Amino acid sequence: MNDINKTLYKNRHIFKSEQAKKMKEFVQHNNVNTYRHCFNVVRVSLKINEFLKLNSNLDTLVLGAFLHDFYLYDWHDKDMCKKLHGFVHPKIAADNSEKFFNINEDVKTVIIRHMWPLTITKIPNTKEAIVVCIADKICSLMEVFSV
Ligand SMILES: [Fe+2]
Ligand SMILES: [Fe+2]
Repeated sequence: MNDINKTLYKNRHIFKSEQAKKMKEFVQHNNVNTYRHCFNVVRVSLKINEFLKLNSNLDTLVLGAFLHDFYLYDWHDKDMCKKLHGFVHPKIAADNSEKFFNINEDVKTVIIRHMWPLTITKIPNTKEAIVVCIADKICSLMEVFSV
């Protein structure tokens, strides 16, 4: 088993948890639910890390990517101000992740900082946070423009 598969296997209880599966109930972009979006970001983050030989901490990268949008609500909901969502959901996702999965500070940093530059003061300041921030933009664009 290579390092990536070991990391995925080690954290499988999180991917398979009822709380994480709740993300399947919410649409992220087009016909892509939040759960699938998060896994797309895991996949692209791992590719970027490999391609640029960044040698990121794989647990931090995979968990940060998987939980970056673990906010658990429908952001298209009329009651929910869409503009506000962009600013508030990283903190909500980090709080949920801490509550359900007891994540460490490094993973929290990845989640909190993934919406930069929208959240202007939350600059990604670790390798893993930079990778997930970029991977999220790539995946979101691909999901929005896919038919
Ligand atoms: Fe997000
Ligand atoms: Fe995202």
